[in-house]
Amino acid sequence: MKRILVTGALGQIGAELVPALRARHGGDRVVATDIRMPARDTAPATHDGPFERLDCTRLQHIHEIVRRYDVGTIYHLAALLSATAEERPQSAWDINMGGLYRILEVARQHRCALFFPSSIGAFGPTTPRDMTPQDTIQRPTTMYGVTKAAGEMLCDYYAHRFGVDARGLRLPGLISYAAPPGGGTTDYAVHIFHQALRYRHYTCFLKPDTALDMMYMPDAVRAILALMDADPARLVHRNAFNVTGMSFTPERLAAEIRRHIPDFVIDYAVDPLRQSIADSWPRAMDDSAARAEWGWAPRFDIAAMTADMLDKLRERSRAAP
Ligand code: SER
Repeated sequence: MKRILVTGALGQIGAELVPALRARHGGDRVVATDIRMPARDTAPATHDGPFERLDCTRLQHIHEIVRRYDVGTIYHLAALLSATAEERPQSAWDINMGGLYRILEVARQHRCALFFPSSIGAFGPTTPRDMTPQDTIQRPTTMYGVTKAAGEMLCDYYAHRFGVDARGLRLPGLISYAAPPGGGTTDYAVHIFHQALRYRHYTCFLKPDTALDMMYMPDAVRAILALMDADPARLVHRNAFNVTGMSFTPERLAAEIRRHIPDFVIDYAVDPLRQSIADSWPRAMDDSAARAEWGWAPRFDIAAMTADMLDKLRERSRAAP
């Protein structure tokens, strides 16, 4: 049986996708990799299966790991998020684009299937922002978006030209209790929960009325697994399916949290960089292609997500030593 390789396994998606893949396929069949070594042996990706340090810009090392573990499918999650990419655009190009190109080359030569996460960041200010169509104008104005839009096209190219079974989603902001995000524009929707529980107060870096697509991580993991399970004959789009779970603004999320923590207070100190990124992204995507082609349907809306986030974070703080 071929193994599964996950890059960026210690990141926001990897921290939850690796345990889900291991629960499904067995620990030994999922090779978790990251450019960082885990600080302590507490990261989920380091439990119950192999972990390797891997820099995705090093082609020979990717070949070596894919050969050594007899890898058949790669989940390529290693990338810089939007705000970090805007601060370090040259590194973002090298890591996001250079990493994907090398992974695709390895996938071509070893005949691996590939999952690639694109993003709402692949759209830009000239994209329709409400009910953003599956196929529409994409002129992203961030380096993150440039690498995601180009990545979608590069995956399509490898699928059509070389027959690589590459598939992908345009994920919205992801909300998770398990792993913190790092350097994203949608990170406020995670930080707000930690601060609400600890201080009853959060200072948001986006304006109160900034609407963005979001998704609870259990839905994102289900979406990734369902897309990779889908019958390829039904896939028309393959590499860049719009998927969304909900759309909300910071003030709407604060109101939802207040239903559980009545004295919670939000105020605002707008970060111009992240506000300008958010203003260039969709408010609410149309995900009907994903629904039609592989049966996508989210389970968590803002109310269900908020209740579950608060429950899970409270459980974790009770369990913490
Ligand atoms: N959550 C991501 C970011 O903010 C969007 O893909 O960068």
